[in-house]
Amino acid sequence: MAFVERLPRQVVVVEVGPRDGLQNEAQPVPTELKVAFIERLAEAGLPVIEVTSFVSPKAVPQLADAEEVMRRIARRPGTRYLALVPNERGLDRALAAGCDAIALFTAASEAFSQVNVHASIEETFQRFRPVAERARAAGLWIRGYVSTAFHCPYSGPVDPRQALSVTERLFALGCHEVALADTIGRATPRDVDRLLALATRAFEPSRLALHFHDTAGLALANVMIGLDYGITVFDASAGGLGGCPFAPGAPGNLATERLLALLEGLGIETGVDREAVAAAVAELHQAVPGIGAHAC
Ligand code: HMG
Ligand code: MG
Repeated sequence: MAFVERLPRQVVVVEVGPRDGLQNEAQPVPTELKVAFIERLAEAGLPVIEVTSFVSPKAVPQLADAEEVMRRIARRPGTRYLALVPNERGLDRALAAGCDAIALFTAASEAFSQVNVHASIEETFQRFRPVAERARAAGLWIRGYVSTAFHCPYSGPVDPRQALSVTERLFALGCHEVALADTIGRATPRDVDRLLALATRAFEPSRLALHFHDTAGLALANVMIGLDYGITVFDASAGGLGGCPFAPGAPGNLATERLLALLEGLGIETGVDREAVAAAVAELHQAVPGIGAHAC
């Protein structure tokens, strides 16, 4: 069978720009511009949009308006609006703002976990247990993130078995989907191959997502490896905005427009209008000149 014919016919693109992108801007983007950006992205047909984080506003002042953003966006039927939640306080805020989909985030490396959330990996799971229990009881859809699934900015290469074990724990908590994240964009196709060989044996590929930053320009090559393993959920950020303020060397996420161009070129359906995404990015650039120029 030809290579392209054995790839999935449909893929879900998860737009993380409003959260992963805007969390990394030196200056917070005004709330009304965030709301307009999210609404444009939803109109472009993106089925899942990560809109904000209910984290400490001291840690991420760029997203201190999480409640307002979540309340003000006009919700498009069928679009899933995700928000990051680090602890029970975050869940309280997310529920009060009307969230019905949350993302819990932890890491495969202890060093990154300490810097990002001031907790060991074990402690993140202690925080998550009551969050997941209450979220499940409230009928929320839950994503889990494994940051530094391939490389840690502080401790170097990560053993795929460690990423696998964290993935397993997130599924055991009741996560519907787990995203394996290349936080600093250092993963090579070989690294992705190694982890997915293990992960797709242990879990349904349809429940795994891939989240690539594009530091080394290998994100699209890594997506190809994911497609070959039957992965059908890929994260991307409109305009390639993004990074993590707690991961030096983590510039933009894989750009949504580039991911869409690849998928279109492979004949894979996404239901997303690439030109409409580009127009949303152009509108944001016009309103905030220089946005995306200072990823760490
Ligand atoms: P902590 O520093 O360990 O201490 O926080 P704490 O729990 O005692 O809280 C510190 C202060 O924050 C206290 O306020 C709390 O009340 C408050 P104070 O007493 O100083 O006035 N607080 C909160 N406020 C609002 N909402 C909350 C909340 N929780 C505590 N939910 C904590 C731990 C995790 C909260 C903090 O370290 C934090 O918010 N970190 C931010 C982490 C973050 O957002 N990182 C970026 C997102 S992850 C990412 O980008 C990776 C990803 O893209 C995948 C990838 O690429 O790898 C997903
Ligand atoms: Mg990220």
